[in-house]
Amino acid sequence: MKLELNNTLASEVDSECVVLGFTEGGDLTPSAQAIDDASGGAIRRLLDSRDIETGIGKTRFLHGLSGLKAPRILAVGFGKQDKLNLPRFDRACLAAGKALRDHPMLNGHVCLQELEFDGIGAGQRLRQSALAIHRANYLYTATKPLKDDSPAPLRGASFQGGEELQPHLDQAAAIALGYEKARILGDLPPNICNPAYLAQEAAAIAGKYDRVELEVLEEEAMAELGMDALLGVSRGSANRARLIVLKYTGAGDGQSPVVLVGKGITFDSGGLSLKSGENMMQMKFDMCGAAGVIGAFVACAQLQLDINVICVVAAVENMPDGDAYRPGDVLTSMSGKTIEVLNTDAEGRLILCDALTYCEKFKPDAIIDVATLTGACVVALGHHATGLMSNDDGLADELTAAGSSIVDRVWRLPLWEEYQSQLDSPFADMKNVGGTPAGVLTAGCFLSRFAEDQRWAHLDIAGSAWKWGGDDGATGRPVGLLAEFLLNRAG
Ligand code: BES
Ligand code: MN
Ligand code: ZN
Repeated sequence: MKLELNNTLASEVDSECVVLGFTEGGDLTPSAQAIDDASGGAIRRLLDSRDIETGIGKTRFLHGLSGLKAPRILAVGFGKQDKLNLPRFDRACLAAGKALRDHPMLNGHVCLQELEFDGIGAGQRLRQSALAIHRANYLYTATKPLKDDSPAPLRGASFQGGEELQPHLDQAAAIALGYEKARILGDLPPNICNPAYLAQEAAAIAGKYDRVELEVLEEEAMAELGMDALLGVSRGSANRARLIVLKYTGAGDGQSPVVLVGKGITFDSGGLSLKSGENMMQMKFDMCGAAGVIGAFVACAQLQLDINVICVVAAVENMPDGDAYRPGDVLTSMSGKTIEVLNTDAEGRLILCDALTYCEKFKPDAIIDVATLTGACVVALGHHATGLMSNDDGLADELTAAGSSIVDRVWRLPLWEEYQSQLDSPFADMKNVGGTPAGVLTAGCFLSRFAEDQRWAHLDIAGSAWKWGGDDGATGRPVGLLAEFLLNRAG
């Protein structure tokens, strides 16, 4: 979808629809005022008669206003002016995007960023509204193409504003591209999106962008490195694992990189600790950590940021088989630490621990892993917040701030050493499960043991990366959070 700026007066804009935002208790925005003036006070009359509703997320198409070049407006409610903040703004913009999507139109002209609130600048409001409009108009077509007679989706959106806003719109377009990439990968079925497919996708990215290099390790290379934890998980699958390393050098070789590590379990059956049918249905989404870091990498390469970023994807399928790893097996990780596997369904931490050890060689400035790691995280935080665990307060604060400023929010959870003893094993350095209490934290504790000398953060996106049912699937999170984090670092 094409995003562009248009500085024409809203009443004169040549578009199928002009999208205006309204709050309760706030002034008319400049574009709403311009249309009110051009139409002899129609906007104020529609507000007075409540044909325009200001309740948050309320949308209404209104046709045939005199003096308006566009055939219709979409009026969008943003709730009470004094309660408006970035998350509420995002929510109402999303509702506007969905209204545009559900109406057969090819383009719209959006003026929502004119609403002022909370000390948030125009550029940030523009970016957020553009991201929301784009997000609402995502359409999965890979295995279900659009039918000839179904309405075409929105092809483009213009945004009210001049060229001073162009850098912000460029950011929105790049991040939207990253989100879209992550969502497509997440939504693709596991018989298509397997480890080899993820490697192919990485190759396409490396081919498309300047300053990007790719290395893909096959299982033989991983065996030589001693990645027996990762390979243990892979053993039950007919699809061979890949360790995918995408390098973006935007700042020259001298600068230590940010390393993003993604859990890429392309399907999680649970292995011999087989999941129930009910719990297995969603497990194509178990590579959304990989999709998220790839999406953020795409956004970074698209913007050609002047920082160094390395994206490492552990792409593995977790299946039961005569040769599969078993509960009770003891695996030696690349770090040399031994792990008693008590549940083959706690596989994410096993592939990530070797990926984390592998990344030491990059001497990262910060290392962030992203994973649909635990059902316990969904219980704790639901679908709105990503779980954040970190051994570094500065890094945790940076991520928290980045998440807030793009409404892709995280909530920090404690990684106190008291929790570590839940991983004690009589047969190895640790076991791979820590029991029912604080399952999200013991998973984090497990990973922390493989990042002891690093500035490290772990994002558990089990709840935030996808929604089940209806028109929802992969959300693309945390592409926005990571992209914003990288943008802030690029300065
Ligand atoms: N991929 C799952 C986590 C998950 C569960 C994500 C539900 C999204 C929704 C992970 O590999 C897993 O199976 N974790 C187990 C860990 C347990 C065996 C300690 C879990 O959460 O049940
Ligand atoms: Mn699992
Ligand atoms: Zn999993």
